[in-house]
Amino acid sequence: MSPVAIGIDIGGTGIKAAAVDLEAGELAGDRVRIPTPKPATPDAVIETAAQTIAELPTDVPVGIGFPAAFVDGEVMESPNMDPAWLGLNARDAFSERLGRPVTLLNDADAAGVAEVRFGAGKGVEGVILVLTLGTGIGSALFTRGHLVPNTEIGHIELRGKDAELRAAASVRERKDLSWKKWAGRLNEYLNAVDRLFWPDLIILGGGVSKKPERFMPHLDVRAPLEPARLANHAGIVGAAFRAAYLAPAPGRRRRAPARSRRRSP
Ligand code: BGC
Repeated sequence: MSPVAIGIDIGGTGIKAAAVDLEAGELAGDRVRIPTPKPATPDAVIETAAQTIAELPTDVPVGIGFPAAFVDGEVMESPNMDPAWLGLNARDAFSERLGRPVTLLNDADAAGVAEVRFGAGKGVEGVILVLTLGTGIGSALFTRGHLVPNTEIGHIELRGKDAELRAAASVRERKDLSWKKWAGRLNEYLNAVDRLFWPDLIILGGGVSKKPERFMPHLDVRAPLEPARLANHAGIVGAAFRAAYLAPAPGRRRRAPARSRRRSP
């Protein structure tokens, strides 16, 4: 039987979880989805995440993708979630409530892990950049299959603004832009990113990856572009995969400065 882990994908609108078949890179059972509580405070979100996995096995690794940059489990930045998350050690808080250690990683990093391993990046050598286009713009950067965590490339400056405020998929809906007009904004963003990283492949994920024909014909970028293949499930699959094979979660252990380490307590 193929190994299984649990993946939880936390987003601004929904919290989704499922058991994942780690060899196939597919869900091993039904996906549970519960709307993200409003306000999305740590206590409320952690409680809801616990509910999503209540019926799933308790003896397998758990990975959680969350829209934030983390250092050693601590939330450093999370523009689209409740400010109460900032500075919290979310990994410890989730582990405590779920009664077992969890692997916590950025949501786009989780989706990227799945796309590179099982989706549009499978078998591609070199530098791959996965961009998730949703409420914000998430990013996951890989070199030869290795993730550089927490890249936050959605926040580069474009025309004097945070890029995700101009080019995220949510901007198209909020401003009622045509697909072509939005693709123009996305094209400008992708060219700026291409000039910074010169990747061998850019994978475009998020809900819009289900409708690539609407916007991809309007894009003109040096780097090859591919729509993501795992669509809705990438975040769950990648979080589970990371928990099973690449724990501990990305981030560095803080070390005391050399001088204070020498002192005896
Ligand atoms: C956050 C990222 C996240 C992305 C997609 C951005 O606003 O800064 O951490 O990956 O949204 O959810």
